[in-house]
This record gives sequence, structure tokens and C-alpha cells, in this order.
Amino acid sequence: MFSNALSFAFLAGAAMASRSTPTPSSTIGPDEPFGLMSLRSASPIHFGQFQAALSSIFLFLPSQNATCDDGQKPTNPNYATFALSEDGGLYLYANSATPQQLFVDRSGMGQGKLGYTTGAQPAPRNSERTAFSIDEYGDLSFNGAGFIACPNSIDGAWTIWVDAGFANPGGNSDCLGLAARTVKIEEGANSCSYTS
Ligand SMILES: *[C@@H]1O[C@H](CO)[C@@H](O)[C@H](O)[C@H]1NC(C)=O
Repeated sequence: MFSNALSFAFLAGAAMASRSTPTPSSTIGPDEPFGLMSLRSASPIHFGQFQAALSSIFLFLPSQNATCDDGQKPTNPNYATFALSEDGGLYLYANSATPQQLFVDRSGMGQGKLGYTTGAQPAPRNSERTAFSIDEYGDLSFNGAGFIACPNSIDGAWTIWVDAGFANPGGNSDCLGLAARTVKIEEGANSCSYTS
């Protein structure tokens, strides 16, 4: 039930606003929780939910195994909840003193690697953290770039990368580009600690 909540919120929103009629500005403010839905029509990754586990971002993990609560009781969502800070830093949403922050490595080594650090862990060499933004369609980008999903990862999941000009990053094949549509979470957002 919890794992479906994001899709329902998204589909309800999609019915009201199509891509040809952007809302005037992003309705997601700084530090407000949102989920991310993958959009790539007529493909196996259309309407996937972004998940966080093992310091990486995925679609279609059977279980992300995060430790979560909604402020009142433990919860078990199978999607990740994000928040964007004023300075363009992307965080995994949590009411915790141990922040988990996304990073991107667009170097030739990283090829668009998207991951997250936990607490005081430094960002990896060559990585960047603060160029995320949400456009007028509600799509998340990194320094203007979109995302790529690659199949055949752990538990049959797809891994998410930033499009850094590598169509099949990290030695993968059959990767697909996608738009990452934000889905605002109005209430009862899951505060989670994701596995590292
Ligand atoms: C989640 O836990 C299950 C059971 O231990 C395990 O099989 C699975 O690989 C874990 N998934 C991740 C993403 O760590």
C-alpha cells in the first residue's frame, strides 16, 4: 500500500497538468519532500519510482530496505523521498542529524555516477553536489542534464545515472534516457535512513 502511494499521487497530478501546459513555477519549495517518477513512454521504465539503497539510486528494486517513519510510526515505503536545498543540493529527506546527500561524478571515470553519502562522509573525488534544480515542468535535472537508467543491476533493478554524455555509462548496456518528474508529497512524508 505504501509503495503505491507515490504512483497515485503522480497519476492524479498528471491528469491535471500535461507537459504542454507547464505550471507557472515549481510547486516544490526548498527543503520540501518529494518523490521522483521516471518518465520514458513506451518503455519498461515508464512510471518507475526512484529508490535509494547501498549509496546508489535505483528503479524496480523489490525492496530498498530503508529504515523509515512518518513521524508517528515506522513505515516501509519502497520509494525514496528527496528534498532540494536552496543552494541546489539534493538530499534524501530525513528528520535526522545524519544527512544523506546526493553527488554526481561526471568525470571520465564516473561517467555520470549518481550516488549519496551518509553523514560526514566526504563527497568522492571529482564529484559535484550542488547543481540540481527543478524546471517548470517539475522535472529534476543536474546542471541542465537529465538521467539514464541501466538494467540488470542487483535484484533485477535498474540503476540511475546522470546523463553526462555517456549513453551506456559504467560498462552497462541497453540503458535508456528518462525524465525525472517530481511528485510533491503533501503530508506524512517518510523520514528514512537508507542503506549505505
Ligand atoms: C533487501 O533485503 C533482502 C533480504 O535480506 C535482500 O535479499 C535484498 O538484496 C536487499 N536489497 C537491497 C537493495 O539491499
